[in-house]
This record gives sequence, C-alpha cells and structure tokens, in this order.
Amino acid sequence: MSKVQINSKLPDLPVSIFTHMSQLAAEHGAINLGQGFPDFPMDARLQDLVYKAMRDGFNQYAHSNGYPLLREVIAEKIKTLYGNPVSPDTEITITPGGTYAISNALTAVLRPGDEVLFFEPCFDSYIPNIEITGAKAVPVPLDFPSYAIPWEKVRQAINPKTRMIMLNSPNNPTGTILTRADLQELKHLVRDTNILILSDEVYEHLVFDGEKHLSILSEPELFERSFVAFSLGKVFHCTGWKTGYSVAPAYLMKEFRNHHQFNVFSVGSTLQVGMAQYLQDPEVYLSLPAFFQKKRDFFLSELRTPFLKPLPCRGSYFQCFTFEAGTGDFDLAEKLTSETGVATIPVSAFYRDRTDNRVLRVCFAKKEETLSQAADHLNRADYSKLK
Ligand SMILES: Cc1ncc(COP(=O)(O)O)c(C=O)c1O
Repeated sequence: MSKVQINSKLPDLPVSIFTHMSQLAAEHGAINLGQGFPDFPMDARLQDLVYKAMRDGFNQYAHSNGYPLLREVIAEKIKTLYGNPVSPDTEITITPGGTYAISNALTAVLRPGDEVLFFEPCFDSYIPNIEITGAKAVPVPLDFPSYAIPWEKVRQAINPKTRMIMLNSPNNPTGTILTRADLQELKHLVRDTNILILSDEVYEHLVFDGEKHLSILSEPELFERSFVAFSLGKVFHCTGWKTGYSVAPAYLMKEFRNHHQFNVFSVGSTLQVGMAQYLQDPEVYLSLPAFFQKKRDFFLSELRTPFLKPLPCRGSYFQCFTFEAGTGDFDLAEKLTSETGVATIPVSAFYRDRTDNRVLRVCFAKKEETLSQAADHLNRADYSKLK
C-alpha cells in the first residue's frame, strides 16, 4: 500500500502513561491505582434519571449550548457556591467532558505564535491541545516539594506574546489547591494585560479538611478574562459519560460556541436531562468532600511502609508519595506493578522533560477493599529489591 505523505501535527507523541500503566497492570493482574477513575458504582438515582429520560423520549439532538434546564441548574449552583450570577443563556455551554471544555477553549482563541503558560506537573492533554493550534506551550515548573506556584518565575516568563495562563485546582497530580494569595498574585499579574485565563476545575468538589475550593468564578476581576472547565463525569463517578461544561463571560463564550457547534454540535441528551434533575439536590455535590476525604484518610491509615512518604493532599482524588532515591519513578512504578501487584503513576510523566523528583501518584477513588488490598501489597513489598 502506498501512503499519502502527511506532515503530522502531533509527531512523536509517546503512548500515554495511563495506557501504559493500565496495560502493565492488566498483564500482571495488579491492582490499578494508576488511572483516575472510580471502581465503585455510581449513584443508582442518577442512572434511573437517565434511563427515565431515555424512556421519556429525550433521544434526539440536544440544544447545541446544552439542555436549557441543566444550564439553569448549573447557573444556580454557581451563584450559590461562588456568588457569581452567570447567565445560563450566554455564559454556560455543556460539553463532552472537561478535556473538551479545555481543548475547545484553546482552539477558539489561540493563534500560531501565541504563548500559553501552564504549570508542570500537568494533565497530559494540555501540551498537545496548545500545540495543535500553532501556539507555543511554555511550562513553568511548580516548586518542589510544596508544588506551590512560583509567581516570580511566572512574571519572568510573561512577554508580549503571552496569550493565556492555564491553572488547575484542585490539581492533578499534586493534590494542591489554589490559595487566596495565588489569586491575588494572578490578579496583579494580568491586570491591564491582554492575557486570558483557562482554569481547569474538574475536581471542583474534591477539597478536604474544611478548606474551600477557590474558583476563578468567585473572582469577578479574573472571571472577565477566563474560561473555566468542569467535569460532571469526574465528580459523579461516571467518567465514561464524558460530560462536563464550560463557563466564560458572554464575549468569550460566543467564540467558544462558534467552534463547539462545528466540533460536536451537542452532547448526549439523555445524560443532560438526567443530570439536570440530579443536580437539583445540592446534597449530591455537597457530600463529595467528606466522601473522598474518608477514602484518602483510609488509604493513608492502611499504608504503613516508611518507604513511601505522603505529600500533603488538599484536593482531587490523587495522593502523591515521595521515596528515597535509588531508582527513577518510572522504573519503580513498573516494578511495583509487576512485582508488588500495585499500579501507580510516575509523576515524571506529567513533565515534558520528564523531571524526576522521585514521586508516585496514587488514585484513591476506589472501594475500601481495593485500597486495603493495595496497601497490604505495598506494606509487604521488599523495597531493597525494588530499588
Ligand atoms: C486535571 C484534569 N483535567 C481534565 C480532565 C478530563 O476530564 P473529562 O474526563 O471530563 O474529560 C482530567 C481527567 O483526568 C483531569 O485530571
């Protein structure tokens, strides 16, 4: 077969670390604490509502901007939680997941030559999604081990080509959350500039120890230049549904929708109708911090090996561990999978240059029995052999 020549737009992309570790886990029958998805059932009430929506005939194209009632319910939630009266008509669009809410915003506004600042370690879709637009991805490494944002370095990285700053709080993989001081720094930095903000808040409700999620939506001065991405699949234990939403001021949302209508047009109607009913009970999201905090604390109490030292986890459903040098994080993650029976993710995979601070990420969105078994394997491992 002769092939037509193409100039790849994303050449040399490695296989995703999540695919690699999940395959390795399957090969060795290991417990998979690598990829970020729950192994417990989602709420049967939500399943019933979606089933009912299907039986009630919501099976044709939904409105391109999203099922109106779902947008209204989300606007109400945003007003209550963040004090921002966003318009469901002009400022919210339902998307096929958080990844799409991010990529569609990038495609809508970036042009070749623009620069986008983002913080590493970062979620793996950011760099390809920036680069496919012809813009330049400019990583700023978070301080280690605090994973705090180094604002002085951000200041130095800004130049006239800087078009956007991307944020992610609660953060995957570090488990950190934005502080009030971060928001102040950001405000000072972008004031009187043309810099946009893209805030990835897919773990919105997963904030622990009584702390509050500081959304960009709660800061009018920042929101006026921002796209904010959310995921319903992530927080309601149905990642496979790939349903989320984007919130932005009307002038930015207009650009977002111009692209959205030709990218996907609309999102699964039954899922949206079911979600619109479900979200009318605030308890379904207000109960999430305690639900996930219990899992974090349970795993940490079960894990007794001094080899893995937990870093603070304030939000998301990821817990990071440092370990004594002796091997790289990628090697250790592979050996833990094949020899100890627990798959984790090496955090070096979240850096373009594979910076290896000897950190592993564990997803604790799992049943207690899974977490307990995994902790047991990790407690019994002979780390002198693994190094
Ligand atoms: C930081 C971050 N952003 C976005 C996403 C994607 O969300 P969705 O599955 O809704 O596309 C994920 C999923 O793991 C994530 O961790």
